[in-house]
Amino acid sequence: MQNNDDDKLIKIDMGTLQSNVAPNKDSVLCLGIESSCDETSAAIVDSNRNVLSHIIYSQIPEHQKYGGVVPELAARAHILAIDTVINQTLQAAGKTINDIDVIAATAGPGLIGGVLVGWLAATGIAQATKKPLVAVNHLEGHALVPRLSATAANGIGAGASVDFPYLLMLASGGHCQILLVRGVGQYELIGQTIDDSAGEAFDKVSKMLGLGYPGGPIVDKRASSGNPKRFNFPRPLCDKPGCDFSFSGIKTAARIMLDKNTQPIDDAFINDFCASFQAAVVDCIINRLNHAMATDVVRAANPKTLVVAGGVAKNSAIRAAMENLADAHNMIFAAPPMNLCTDNGAMIAWAGIENWRIGNIVREPVAPRPRWPLTEL
Ligand SMILES: Nc1ncnc2c1ncn2[C@@H]1O[C@H](COP(=O)(O)OP(=O)(O)OP(=O)(O)O)[C@@H](O)[C@H]1O
Ligand SMILES: [Mg+2]
Repeated sequence: MQNNDDDKLIKIDMGTLQSNVAPNKDSVLCLGIESSCDETSAAIVDSNRNVLSHIIYSQIPEHQKYGGVVPELAARAHILAIDTVINQTLQAAGKTINDIDVIAATAGPGLIGGVLVGWLAATGIAQATKKPLVAVNHLEGHALVPRLSATAANGIGAGASVDFPYLLMLASGGHCQILLVRGVGQYELIGQTIDDSAGEAFDKVSKMLGLGYPGGPIVDKRASSGNPKRFNFPRPLCDKPGCDFSFSGIKTAARIMLDKNTQPIDDAFINDFCASFQAAVVDCIINRLNHAMATDVVRAANPKTLVVAGGVAKNSAIRAAMENLADAHNMIFAAPPMNLCTDNGAMIAWAGIENWRIGNIVREPVAPRPRWPLTEL
């Protein structure tokens, strides 16, 4: 390891890892490692889009009592789990490290303590085995995983893939962006949140209602039996042109409504509140996607598929509304299966394969990055 005084980031000297030797096989095996937030995960995925094994160790119970992820605790938990998770992943696939062709790990963006744990583990394995290493952008993992495995009501059956270009709604705990995905490493930002992410809004509203962490799945479930018209949430920016989002106003409206509330906060209240909040988020997403589809750049690219990815892609109402939108625009709608929406090693392994295919492997020291916009790839 060497310290680079210019940017004060620790860089890893990759030594002999200079080659991208294509294994002479029909199918290439990639070990992917994810550790950017509160999941320690590894997976073995092949280039024919099979997931041979996939282990996700979730730290949710460790962070639950704090109502959110505590970065220092997350980093320590990754250190304790990483070896076991990697070993179990190899065992579950019936493979040894010698059978693996490509190593991939998240190199950012994310909580840097956690990113370092996974990245250093991957670097050590790659150096010891002299195998190619891919530094995966976590967001690219979310963005490309629909090409590994997508479920879609209209068009993409099991076993088919999502072709480039596609219009992507990337909605996660830390990001909310509309992107035109032209290819691996080719992302054009069409719109993004100017404040909170959608996932953050779900988590904060859940916390206000005392429902627990992570909030998205709980609010989603409560909303399914609630009345979305009972509470009047704002739809920020929806009366304005453009494709950007703002969720902090919806969150503040929730706070004010709860502070002023004089009605009993019973199950019906909570369900209706969640349904009304969720309906506002859905309306914002659909409004902004409609605007995105009307932009010159998207029209010129003419994407055939509308894709949702990231943890918030698990949301049933968002999936249903986006499917209707795709239908109305004669597009295919695609979403990853539920277990590949929130953070997971399979999406990192798949992004590893997609990058390896175009020769994008580590050839010089790589500094893991807490921030790493997709548009910088
Ligand atoms: N059913 C759901 N409805 C809405 N939100 C959900 C649902 N399930 C999960 N989420 C939200 O998804 C988020 C977690 O997603 P993800 O793991 O992709 O985020 P992250 O990795 O922390 O952020 P990023 O990928 O931007 O770095 C949380 O905010 C969680 O509440
Ligand atoms: Mg994520």
